[in-house]
Amino acid sequence: MEIEISSSIHLMYVSEIQQEMYDSAQRRGTGIAKRSIEYLSKKITEGNAVVATDKGKWVGFCYIETWSHGQFVANSGLIVSPEFRHLGVATLIKDKVFTLSRNKYPNAKIFGLTTGLAVMKINSDLGYKPVIYSELTQDEEFWNGCKSCVNYDILMKKERKNCLCTAMLFVPENIKNSAGKSQSENQYNNEQESSFSI
Ligand SMILES: CC(C)(COP(=O)(O)OP(=O)(O)OC[C@H]1O[C@@H](n2cnc3c(N)ncnc32)[C@H](O)[C@@H]1OP(=O)(O)O)[C@@H](O)C(=O)NCCC(=O)NCCS
Repeated sequence: MEIEISSSIHLMYVSEIQQEMYDSAQRRGTGIAKRSIEYLSKKITEGNAVVATDKGKWVGFCYIETWSHGQFVANSGLIVSPEFRHLGVATLIKDKVFTLSRNKYPNAKIFGLTTGLAVMKINSDLGYKPVIYSELTQDEEFWNGCKSCVNYDILMKKERKNCLCTAMLFVPENIKNSAGKSQSENQYNNEQESSFSI
């Protein structure tokens, strides 16, 4: 099996990747941010994705997105072809896309939103910690991606403070000091929130 940083040679898999993303979301009955063929193709040609293949067959995929002018990076759209699941492929892909993200954006925080246990496990092993949504990018464009999710009305009812997805964040050592500051600010916000709910 090969796990590579994407290039235009991988464009031949883009329809299959998009279809499997959609089909998997349908099967799980969960929400998903919809990605167009054009959007995924751009990620692939720009080298902002990781593609796993086996003897010319598509196996798995994940891509990088940047938000808040590069202050945040998300490793999104993780998908493994059903016949290759439970073999550690997602772990290898996430490892590669994480290293790519750290190399390309060494000063960015890396985050993810997920309902999936597998992704939570993988992210934890990479050093991500669960956080509340206010620790994530506040870039409108990122949150607009949730509009195609079946749970979008819940997110809006909760005023974008939380939803069904668990938020996870990796803060690089080099920017941990400023993250510590924002965490104590959020602790204060949480105290205020809980006093509302009592
Ligand atoms: C989620 C997904 C990417 C996992 O791919 P995979 O290659 O099977 O994952 P791995 O084999 O690397 O497993 C990683 C860990 O998650 C666990 N895991 C895998 N699938 C799981 C599942 N469905 N439920 C619970 N745990 C699971 C594995 O046991 C492993 O845990 P371990 O390290 O404790 O042994 C794959 O099932 C998939 O493509 N699903 C549909 C799309 C999706 O849900 N994407 C995530 C969107 S955030």
